[in-house]
Amino acid sequence: MIHLHVELGNRSYPIYIGSQLLSQPDLYAAHIKSKQVLIVTNETVAPLYLDQVRQNLTSYQVETVILPDGEQYKTLETLSRVFDALLAARFSRNATLIALGGGVIGDMGGFAAACYQRGIVFLQIPTTLLAQVDSSVGGKTGVNHPLGKNMIGAFYQPQCVLADTDVLDTLDNRQLAAGLAEVIKYGLIRDADFFVWLEENIEALCARDKQALAYAIEHSCRNKAEIVAEDETESGVRATLNLGHTFGHAIETGTGYGAYLHGEAVAIGICQAADLSMRKGWLTEQEVQRIGVLLRRAGLPVIPPAGLDTERFLELMAVDKKNLDGQIRLILLEKIGRATLPVYVERTLLESTLNGYGRN
Ligand SMILES: NC(=O)c1ccc[n+]([C@@H]2O[C@H](COP(=O)([O-])OP(=O)(O)OC[C@H]3O[C@@H](n4cnc5c(N)ncnc54)[C@H](O)[C@@H]3O)[C@@H](O)[C@H]2O)c1
Ligand SMILES: [Zn+2]
Repeated sequence: MIHLHVELGNRSYPIYIGSQLLSQPDLYAAHIKSKQVLIVTNETVAPLYLDQVRQNLTSYQVETVILPDGEQYKTLETLSRVFDALLAARFSRNATLIALGGGVIGDMGGFAAACYQRGIVFLQIPTTLLAQVDSSVGGKTGVNHPLGKNMIGAFYQPQCVLADTDVLDTLDNRQLAAGLAEVIKYGLIRDADFFVWLEENIEALCARDKQALAYAIEHSCRNKAEIVAEDETESGVRATLNLGHTFGHAIETGTGYGAYLHGEAVAIGICQAADLSMRKGWLTEQEVQRIGVLLRRAGLPVIPPAGLDTERFLELMAVDKKNLDGQIRLILLEKIGRATLPVYVERTLLESTLNGYGRN
């Protein structure tokens, strides 16, 4: 088992990564504060892993909430079902909430834990690759609002993150690849050695080689943990995690949520950010190629949707959270392994990427 540590003073916590972690009662017991435990999961994950988790909790009063599956249910309305369950069971401030699922469940479970009686203990058991390498670490929790994604939320850190590589066996190839987009992102923004390792091991990852997956999850979480320790509330370096995301969000919104998975849209966005970084004179053409090739080998799309023209892209990118005063700010790459902080980009240069990259 790999054991990492997120250093946040008295809110520090461990990340456990490895095989068969779900069936180790001690890992749960070490972080549960009272007899009362609520497991929050969804219709897809419950039949796969709920029993396995419950088997470790026989000496506790365990309640479960099984939510419908999907980003469209990441709402305040769905969240109220979690509060209903906590109150109906008369759970106290010492109760523990376990979020068992992908990023949607992790974000909702964490936010419910942050709100219930002003904060109860919560454990993250991420079951998608994306959740294991990204969303379960760092304490961003929340739900969507009809007028904006993740607009209602809180920074609230878990007590621990339990990333069991075995659960990835049941994840479909598309979801696995979407997680790999975020993994590749860590190499690009701050870990050139890891990027090279990914170039050498991407086939093993796609084939779900357990050792390769554990290595990739470890290095992703290590990078994220270091960033979060330095900048918990995103006033600086944490913004680099958004490489490719402004383009990606435009693709997600512009094609209607659901056409592209988040990681797929981010993969295309990373390519666009790389192209723009080359136009800035930072990346070489060869580096841009390397990035595109690795993403493609991971099974990810790299060409922007034909239906989304430059004008629409600009419109959608202008509403991104990172912008100040209506100007578009982006994370770019100085080289493989080093990202910029958000930079203002000349409109003509941005247009040349939007018109030029992947449009032939
Ligand atoms: N908090 C953060 O810092 C942060 C970072 C990135 C993304 N997010 C959020 O994460 C969400 C996306 O997370 P996601 O990609 O995990 O999506 P998801 O939670 O919707 O999971 C994807 C699908 O896989 C299913 N699934 C989960 N585990 C499975 C397993 N082991 N086997 C088979 N199927 C399984 C889910 O039920 C779902 O259908 C978004 O809401 C996004 O906003 C948050
Ligand atoms: Zn992302």
